[in-house]
This record gives sequence, C-alpha cells and structure tokens, in this order.
Amino acid sequence: MVLGGFRKDATVSRIFRYGLHGAGRIGRVHGQIVKDQGHVIAAIGDEARAAAEEAAQALDVQSVPTFGDPAAMARSVDLDAVIISSHTKDHARDARPFVEAGIPVYLEKPLTSDLPEAFDFVEAVGEDRTLLQIGLQRRFDEALGHAKELLAAGLIGEIREIRSILRDQYPPPPTYTSRGLIIDMGIHVADEALWLLGEYPDEVWARVFEARGYDSPVDEGGNTAFVGFTTKSGTIGRLDLSRTHASGYNNETYIIGTAGTLHVGRFSGYPGPIPVELWTNKGELHDSSKVFEMTYLDGDYAEFQPRFHTAYQRAHSAFRDAVAAQRPFAVTQNEVLSAQVFVEAAHLSALDGGRIYRFGHADDVSDFRRLCVDNRLLPET
Ligand SMILES: NC(=O)c1ccc[n+]([C@@H]2O[C@H](COP(=O)([O-])OP(=O)(O)OC[C@H]3O[C@@H](n4cnc5c(N)ncnc54)[C@H](O)[C@@H]3O)[C@@H](O)[C@H]2O)c1
Repeated sequence: MVLGGFRKDATVSRIFRYGLHGAGRIGRVHGQIVKDQGHVIAAIGDEARAAAEEAAQALDVQSVPTFGDPAAMARSVDLDAVIISSHTKDHARDARPFVEAGIPVYLEKPLTSDLPEAFDFVEAVGEDRTLLQIGLQRRFDEALGHAKELLAAGLIGEIREIRSILRDQYPPPPTYTSRGLIIDMGIHVADEALWLLGEYPDEVWARVFEARGYDSPVDEGGNTAFVGFTTKSGTIGRLDLSRTHASGYNNETYIIGTAGTLHVGRFSGYPGPIPVELWTNKGELHDSSKVFEMTYLDGDYAEFQPRFHTAYQRAHSAFRDAVAAQRPFAVTQNEVLSAQVFVEAAHLSALDGGRIYRFGHADDVSDFRRLCVDNRLLPET
C-alpha cells in the first residue's frame, strides 16, 4: 500500500463519529440511516455550502462544523469513518485525504467518472481491503443475496443467460453530473452481473437511445441503453438501463440456466414486493422461491430508497462491523475498478455505433491497466 492505511492502533468507539462529505440526495439518505442506527454525524462537507447547510438542517445537526474542503475535515475533526457521496467525478479526489489520514471511507460508486484516474487512484492507495467500502448496495440486498445462494446450490444448473435491469422512474436532479447512463447507472448492474456470475466478460457492445417524452435537466447523451456481453465460458448477458420507467423504479434480474430460471424483482408495483422466483424445468415454482418486501417510507424520499433502504442499512452495518473487527470490506476499490472497466468498454462501444469491444481482467492492477491499454480502453501512458 502506498498511501495512509487503516489506523491499526485506533480504538474505534461503539458509537461511530461520522464525517459526511457530499450532502446531496444520497448523502442525506446515508446520513439519516447512520443517525437512525444510533451513530453521530460529527462533520458535514460539500463544495456547495448551501448543500452542506441544508443537509445539516435536514439531519437536525445544525451545530456540527461544515467544510468545503475534505482535507480540512480530515485534519480537524476526530472521526471514526467518513461517507463520501459527492459528484462522481470528485469521488477519488475527495476520498484521498481520508485514506491518507487512516479514516475508513464508505465511498459512493463509481471510483471516479474517468478510467485513467480510477487506475491512478487504485495504484496510489493499493489493494488493501480495509480502506474503502464502495456503495454498491446490491451486494447487501437480501433478495439478490438469496438469489446468489440459489445459484450456488446449483438449482438452475449451468447459467446460459443473465439480464440485469435498472430503470429509474424520473430524471436525475438538476445538480446531478453524469458522463452517461452506462457509466453512471450501469456500474450497479455491471457489478451485480460480475458478482452473480463470478466471471468477467470478454466482449461487450452497447447502444444508447432517446426514448420519447423525456425531459431532463441533465444531458447524459441518452436516457435508455442496452449493453450486451459474453463471457469466456459462453454466458450471454444484457444490461438494460433507463430513466424512463413511468410506473416506478425497476430492478429485475433474470438468470436462465440449463435446469431452470431465476427471476428477481418482477415488477409488482412501487413500492411493492420483491419476488425471488425460481422456475423449474417442469415449469413450476420451486419451494425455495421467496418474497421480500420493500420499505414503506413516510414523507419525501429519494426514488431508490424503498427498494434499497434495507440494503443501505445492511451495507452500513457491515462497514462498521468490518472497521471494528479490522476485517476486510466485502466490496472495495478492487471490485469497483473491475466493474468500471466493464462499463467503460460498453460506453466506448455506444459512442462507436455499437462496435464490439474485447477486454479482460487481471488481478494485478498494473497488468489490468496494461490489458486496458492493449484493448484501447485507456490511452498509452
Ligand atoms: N448507491 C446508490 O444507490 C446511489 C443513488 C444515488 C446516487 N448515487 C451516487 O452518489 C453521488 C451523488 O449523487 P446524488 O444523487 O446525491 O446527486 P446530487 O446531485 O443530489 O448531489 C451531488 C452534489 O450536487 C450538489 N448539490 C446537491 N443538492 C444541492 C443543493 N440543494 N444546493 C447546492 N448544491 C447541491 C452538491 O455539491 C452535492 O454534493 C453520485 O456519485 C451518484 O452516482 C448512488
């Protein structure tokens, strides 16, 4: 490891003192969750002072210090952990002073919007798994976790096909910045597919479209994207992304195997149930099928909250447990870099009229970078 490192001598209090840097939509969600879990927001930061002040009001922590500069927060407040949920393009830059100070970071996805910067960051911080947990909350989702167990039990046989769907109901807020739908939303389902398959794609292709009747304050170059991919072992995959699902926030995963089909999250209203349905090769529902529930919230809430509220809670609990026990985090800079390369290849394919991009994965970060240069996902350095 090159930078900082977890404070091995730190005594982590049972009640965590959190810094919150990036206090927009999801920042407030995270702040409220850890506060409701009994922890303390000890500092709030945002380059937009208005966002920090509004979040302090909304979270009812008006007396905590606010910061424009994450380095100043890391220097001047005694923190057990920090949550970073600033603009995607600023994630790595904003995480760095905390990593250097040995403060564990819960970092929203992706690492950065820019692939060379993502590699630079991982090369600088190293592959230590105790520095950052990434906000890929599907890894903590009960319904998807159950599906993963059913896959591991071999109940659908060998996987032939996977299709992961992520469709927002509404456009993003006017403050939002995005390099494009595939980079921004695609990372969630790219990571989900990698996690469920346990295998890396070798070819990807993608197209981005403008579905009709969409009015967004943010130009992302399109509101609907289809990403296709294959893996070395012959699994065929697709990621469906859009911001135009008028009926509600929609997350579904179909996995078709040689002996059955697994379907997670069949759209059944929003908020609503989350069915995990395992269909046998006799066309019957298997006994291990199960229905999970979304969270029914009062008042105003972000559109993704009912579906993932429990997953965010579980992700934060797992983060603190790992910090307290000095155990590795379940999802780190290493996993998100893998997903980021996948979505970068898809994004470039979409810009290139849907041309097939070949790519691959290496465990060693320098070898992985070399592979990306060879596959023209990164410029020659
Ligand atoms: N894991 C998830 O489910 C999830 C969900 C949403 C967003 N995200 C990620 O979190 C990050 C932040 O996304 P977001 O949805 O919170 O974006 P956002 O636009 O609400 O906030 C981003 C930034 O915009 C500015 N801003 C927001 N509200 C403001 C206000 N009222 N006044 C002045 N400035 C304001 C702030 O600088 C803030 O840090 C992104 O990287 C995104 O990819 C993750």
